[in-house]
Amino acid sequence: MDDLTPPRDSLDPIEIASRDEIEALQLDRLKWSLRHAYDNVAHYRVGFDAAGVHPDDLTDLSDLARFPFTEKQHLRDNYPFGMFAVPQSRIARLHASSGTTGKPTVVGYTARDIDTWSQVVARSMRAAGTRPGDTVHIAYGYGLFTGGLGAHYGAERLGCTVVPVSGGMTPRQVTLIEDFAPTTLMVTPSYALSILDEYRAQGLDPRQSPLKVGIFGAEPWTNAMRAEIEQAFDMHAVDIYGLSEVIGPGVANECVETKDGLHIWEDHFYPEIIDPDTGAVLPEGELGELVFTSLTKEAFPIIRYRTRDLTRLLPGTARSMRRMEKVTGRSDDMIILRGVNVFPTQIEEQLIATEGLAPHFQLELTREGRMDTMTVHVEPLPGVTDNARLVHLAAELKGRIKDYVGLSVAVKLHETGQVARSQGKAVRVVDGR
Ligand code: DLL
Repeated sequence: MDDLTPPRDSLDPIEIASRDEIEALQLDRLKWSLRHAYDNVAHYRVGFDAAGVHPDDLTDLSDLARFPFTEKQHLRDNYPFGMFAVPQSRIARLHASSGTTGKPTVVGYTARDIDTWSQVVARSMRAAGTRPGDTVHIAYGYGLFTGGLGAHYGAERLGCTVVPVSGGMTPRQVTLIEDFAPTTLMVTPSYALSILDEYRAQGLDPRQSPLKVGIFGAEPWTNAMRAEIEQAFDMHAVDIYGLSEVIGPGVANECVETKDGLHIWEDHFYPEIIDPDTGAVLPEGELGELVFTSLTKEAFPIIRYRTRDLTRLLPGTARSMRRMEKVTGRSDDMIILRGVNVFPTQIEEQLIATEGLAPHFQLELTREGRMDTMTVHVEPLPGVTDNARLVHLAAELKGRIKDYVGLSVAVKLHETGQVARSQGKAVRVVDGR
């Protein structure tokens, strides 16, 4: 793999500014953002008043802890436009994230917000190793989902040639990668695996593909999966994080030279880690729930938004801005099985460690009487057909999950292609309880 470290002089100066400079900028912007939310969004005015706090009470970054949290339910209660802070005539674009139940969460952007978003995605892509002039294949879904258009505007801003493919039609994804020779692939990690399968199905060697870097996000994935994809495609695999409520993709991104967690673009998004039970702010390094406050957004300012994503904050390395550890899972995705807490990413790690199994998986939860059971649906790599070997593989995975996760599960091996394939965000858990 090539060294894709971006030249130091190509970075935005704030990426490598001193902590003092970054914090001074954050304080100025945070004051503006609290004031903007309070003056223009009834929900924040009522909430701050009820909590007995006022934007003027913030004189230090730590004062933010006195302000109330914003939760997904608040956005639902204000559906569709009740959280917007500018008149409709200034809204340049809407996006929405599909909820599992009921109405989607709607977010809005002014022209300046779109510009900010393009900048942070361009910065993310540069951190990942993409350069101006590169060709970028975007297989995140286009539409109300922020993945496709968010990546698109960022790639254009960086000065790339954009191939706006969107998701689906996997055979065509492979044809276009081979024919247009993009060096960057932007897609969910689970759909990257579907593209990988298709390479092999077409008899092509993925290591000979033109790709040099994949920028993968929108769902949790492990370092084990990174190693698997990097090896298969002979390319860098870098993590991109974001959520619609905060802006979309490009809130944080890994640097290709370190791949040690995601640098948060702290000049636009202020992070906190809280204890999910008490709401108390936790010190740097402790595991908890990630909370974000927007510092510059006009149309949809968001104050102390509880993401439900679990991670920890770490000091900067390749940049001065702080990092967040790779997200292990959302508190909503945590499975509690017979008293043991488990995230799908823990199963993913053990699956990838089991040589001979394909990296696709789905977890099915069932209940018989009072007994909860998890069945791990997997399949062997193409070509692995020997019966004794298959029995051994299923037993090995079962043993690993028992030893490393502490759970007795059933493992069901399917024929190649039978485990549900992702076209975007993978559905990891089917809960039939
Ligand atoms: O998934 C935005 C995005 C698009 C990010 C493309 C990266 C690439 P939502 O649909 O609002 O937005 O979903 C946000 O997805 O709270 C996390 O739970 C999860 N998520 C996003 N990126 C990552 C990641 C987009 N890199 C929710 N690792 C977030 C783990 C992620 N989970």
